[in-house]
Amino acid sequence: MNVLLIGGGGREHALAWALSASPLLTTLHCAPGNPGIAEVATLAAIDVTDHAAVIAYCRRHAITFVVVGPEAPLVAGIADDLASAGIKVFGPSRTAAELEGSKGFTKDLCREFAIPTAAYERFTEPGPAKDYVRRMGAPIVIKADGLAAGKGVVVAMTLDEALAAVDMMFEGGMGAAGASVVVEAFMTGEEASFFALCDGDHALALATAQDHKRVGDGDTGPNTGGMGAYSPAPVMTPTLVERTMAEIIRPTLAAMKARGRPFKGVLFAGLMITAEGPKLIEYNCRFGDPECEVLMMRLKDDLLTLLLGAADGQLKTMSARWYDEAALTVVMAAKGYPGTPEKGTVIRGIERARALGGVEVFHAGTALKDGEVVAAGGRVLAVTATGRTVTEAQETAYRAVDLIDWPGGFCRRDIGWQAVAREGAAPAQD
Ligand code: AMP
Ligand code: GLY
Repeated sequence: MNVLLIGGGGREHALAWALSASPLLTTLHCAPGNPGIAEVATLAAIDVTDHAAVIAYCRRHAITFVVVGPEAPLVAGIADDLASAGIKVFGPSRTAAELEGSKGFTKDLCREFAIPTAAYERFTEPGPAKDYVRRMGAPIVIKADGLAAGKGVVVAMTLDEALAAVDMMFEGGMGAAGASVVVEAFMTGEEASFFALCDGDHALALATAQDHKRVGDGDTGPNTGGMGAYSPAPVMTPTLVERTMAEIIRPTLAAMKARGRPFKGVLFAGLMITAEGPKLIEYNCRFGDPECEVLMMRLKDDLLTLLLGAADGQLKTMSARWYDEAALTVVMAAKGYPGTPEKGTVIRGIERARALGGVEVFHAGTALKDGEVVAAGGRVLAVTATGRTVTEAQETAYRAVDLIDWPGGFCRRDIGWQAVAREGAAPAQD
């Protein structure tokens, strides 16, 4: 079968890498892709916001299945348009993608269907939002309702910070995303990323992961899209996985079906593991980036078969198997990220890093210039390794990072620290 993958980041390189190994695949295309993806797919020079152009490309290349990586095209309804044109798609419809597209929609759904999450209220004006903030006190969390590229959340440790965040959002600091605001209670616990494939009726739990959102070592500095990740997340014991499926994922699927918006695709639950159990921080309607990079390294079964199962409503009879090894990815970002990253700096040594056993270097924001790989985004590479333990995967990943010659880039040096500390305290069983 001929497949088109939409997107061009590290997540899509990892998806392309896994899809390209499928026995079901004839040709893989990717729009817009990147130089790493170009090694395993034909890059399609089409504008993915132009759905008619995407459909025309599919017809021209006899593409029968489209896999959508990022959220923006899903929220814009690309899955609906492809389905109307008779093309099978992995990814939710526009109305189902509201689980990510509107935080208020998700919070209301949780309230109605008793899905555990932080207490909250929704506001469309600053006055009542500030009254609520004063009543609740700090710490408190202020969230723009709409998509804000991972930057729409202010975790306010003081009342002044919270009130300033309310003003900033209503004054347009988050653009249209902040016209409506959710104010919610601050939760404490360890965070985990949980993924489930969904076919509208059934959910299949995938592996767990943990992400590092802050830009600096020791989880300091501003939030980013994610500076590194590892899988599995030791905090997610089998009991917690089952509780997450029973208390959060399956009720969400049932609720979405009841609302006439069956969810098909991958449901990415950001969880807080609190003293009372797992609670939902937020939903995304796509794979996490860089979580996807570590999941793909650990997936034993054929990715294309699983994604087709989700699209076809066949997950009830399917399972996903994972390698026992841990995987860990270190994001290398261009200096300046998450502010204004420096573009165009030359990166060398990727092949040397890739030659290490158990290592893949996924391209996230790269371009080719005069035959050399150059930085073309904030997060630029996801250097990914496997190992018997997270500690081993971490050692190999940093060995690979050190083989990359890129003075214009930087990375955190402590990705995986929670798991490494746990393994140090209680060495993993062989
Ligand atoms: P989100 O974009 O909703 O995942 O939020 C970004 C980050 O803000 C999360 O990864 C958490 O670290 C933090 N966060 C969001 N909501 C809460 C909450 N209710 N309590 C504590 N931390 C939160
Ligand atoms: N790494 C977090 C995300 O993809 O949203």
